[in-house]
Amino acid sequence: MLKSNRVYLWGFMGCGKSTIGLSLAKTLSIPFLDTDQQVEMMSCMNITEIFHQHGEAYFRFLESQVLHHTNLLHQAIIATGGGLPSNQNLFERMNELGITIYLQMPFDELWQRIQKDHVQRPMVKSFEQMQALYLEREKIYHKAHITVNATMQTSKIITQIVEEISKKK
Ligand code: S3P
Repeated sequence: MLKSNRVYLWGFMGCGKSTIGLSLAKTLSIPFLDTDQQVEMMSCMNITEIFHQHGEAYFRFLESQVLHHTNLLHQAIIATGGGLPSNQNLFERMNELGITIYLQMPFDELWQRIQKDHVQRPMVKSFEQMQALYLEREKIYHKAHITVNATMQTSKIITQIVEEISKKK
């Protein structure tokens, strides 16, 4: 059903890329890949350790390597780290390699989720700093082929993505 072999999910931290990606992959019966998980497997460190021991630039290098290898995947739903599209303009590469989907959510809701969930995120410092990063990255996220309102129920988000993807056939 997919025109493209790969679907990349974009969006700010906390928007649900991994949860939605996994559910979408199950619905479409195709493999799921999470770039953050791949970076952790590749380096045998968790993301916080990578940031603390080697710095953000090294993390950005690792995630770019993971992204470049996704061209080898025949079919996959790929959840990307929130900073991947703006890392060295990799949004352009993803737009070439597959269908890109921006999971859009207002910053206030993202901030609440970021504070509640237990995922360690070394980028998170203050509300002001996160809001500025969100505003900066939003411009890039809007370069996705498809934008979906990620505040809806997961099942509705999945239905909408499946519909939008099939239109791109
Ligand atoms: C980051 C987002 C994180 C992870 C890393 C950096 C970012 O992924 O890649 O902590 O720069 O926005 P999630 O968006 O899945 O939280």
